[in-house]
Amino acid sequence: MRDVRVLIIGTGGMANNHVEAYAKIVGVRVVAGVDTDPARLAAFIQKHGISHGFGSVSEALAWGEFDAVSNVTPDAIHHRTTLPLLAAGKHVLCEKPLAANAADAAEMAEAAAQAGVVNMVNHSYREGPALVAAAKMVADGAIGEVRHFEASYLQSWLTQGAWGDWRTEDQWLWRLSKSHGSMGVLGDVGVHILDYATYVAGLQVASVSCRLTTFDKAEGGQIGEYTLDANDSMNMHLRLANGAVGVIHASRFASGHHNDLSLKIYGTTGGLDVKFAEKQSLLKASLGGDVKGGRWVDVSVPPVDTNYARFIAAVRAGEQVTPNFERGAALQRVLDLAVQSDANGCLDTVV
Ligand SMILES: NC(=O)c1ccc[n+]([C@@H]2O[C@H](COP(=O)([O-])OP(=O)(O)OC[C@H]3O[C@@H](n4cnc5c(N)ncnc54)[C@H](O)[C@@H]3O)[C@@H](O)[C@H]2O)c1
Repeated sequence: MRDVRVLIIGTGGMANNHVEAYAKIVGVRVVAGVDTDPARLAAFIQKHGISHGFGSVSEALAWGEFDAVSNVTPDAIHHRTTLPLLAAGKHVLCEKPLAANAADAAEMAEAAAQAGVVNMVNHSYREGPALVAAAKMVADGAIGEVRHFEASYLQSWLTQGAWGDWRTEDQWLWRLSKSHGSMGVLGDVGVHILDYATYVAGLQVASVSCRLTTFDKAEGGQIGEYTLDANDSMNMHLRLANGAVGVIHASRFASGHHNDLSLKIYGTTGGLDVKFAEKQSLLKASLGGDVKGGRWVDVSVPPVDTNYARFIAAVRAGEQVTPNFERGAALQRVLDLAVQSDANGCLDTVV
C-alpha cells in the first residue's frame, strides 16, 4: 500500500482529531502543518511530532513534499486556502461547511472537478454506522416511500463550559460572528444535520423555509473584535424532490445536550429512528407487523470506515469519494437560501 503524505492547514481544535485519525491508518504520515498563528503551529507540531511547519499555504506549496491535505481552517478561510492546493494537483479533505457562501463553494467544486483530484467534505456523522445503515435501508425500500422526517442537532456550549469558555476563546467567538465568516449555528452544525437528514431522506432539496434567531449574549452584542451577530438557533422546513417533507432544527442553547443528533423518518410502510447521542450511534426501526403495534426494535448495524480512511483509500485508488465538494456546494446553496428565506419572513424558497 503506497505511503500518503498529509499536510494539515489550520492547527486549532479540530486539527487534533484529523491527526489522531490519520495516525490509525497504516502508511499515512502527517508531514507538515500550516497556521498563521506561529505559537499555535509550534505547539501543534511539537505535540504530534510533525517535522515541518509553515506560516502560509504558499510556503507549504513551495516546499511541496505532500500528496494530500486536510483543510481545518475556519469556514471563511476554506475557499482561499483550498483553491491554490487544487491548482497544484493536491487531494483535499476540507472541513464543513465547504465555504462561507454558495458562490465560493460552487467555485471550489468546479475547481476540484477540473483538477481531477480526490475532494471530500468532512461531514463527520457519515461515520455513524446507524446513519449509513438507515440510508441503505431507505434506498432499498425498507420504509416504502418517504413522507415525513424530523431532525435535530443539539449543543449547549452557550449555557455550560464543558468545552471551554465561549466568552474568552477565539475558537468559539469566531463561530458567533458574521464578519469572521460564520453563518452561525446554521453553517456550523446546521449543515451537519442537513446532510445527515437528506443523506437518508433524499439528497435533493426542492424548497426551504427557515427562521434564524440571534439572542443577546453580551453587552452591546460585542466581545473584543467579535460582533455577536451570527444566529444561535435555526428552525427549517424542507420539501425534497422525492415529495417528502420535514423539519430540521439546531441550537447551541440546548441545555442538557452536549452534541446530540437525531433523525426520525417515516415512510408508507415503516419508520426509522437514527441517533447519535453521547458518542453512540443507534438505530431503531418499526417495520412490517411492528407498525400496526407501534413497536420499535433495536437494529444492529455493521461498523463503517472513518471519513479519513475513506479519503486516503480514494487517494490510493485514484477514485472519487462522497460527500464530495459537489455535495458540499449543493448543501451550501440550501444554507444561502435559508438565510434568504429568514430575511423574507420565512418565505418558502425554491432551490
Ligand atoms: N467535522 C466536524 O465535526 C467539525 C468539528 C469541529 C470543527 N469543524 C470545522 O473545522 C474548522 C476549524 O474549526 P476549529 O474548531 O478547529 O477552529 P479553531 O479556531 O480551533 O482552529 C482554526 C485554526 O486555523 C488557523 N487559521 C486561520 N486562518 C488561517 C490561514 N489563512 N491559514 C492557516 N491557518 C489559519 C487559526 O489560527 C486556528 O489555529 C471549521 O471549518 C469548523 O467548522 C468541523
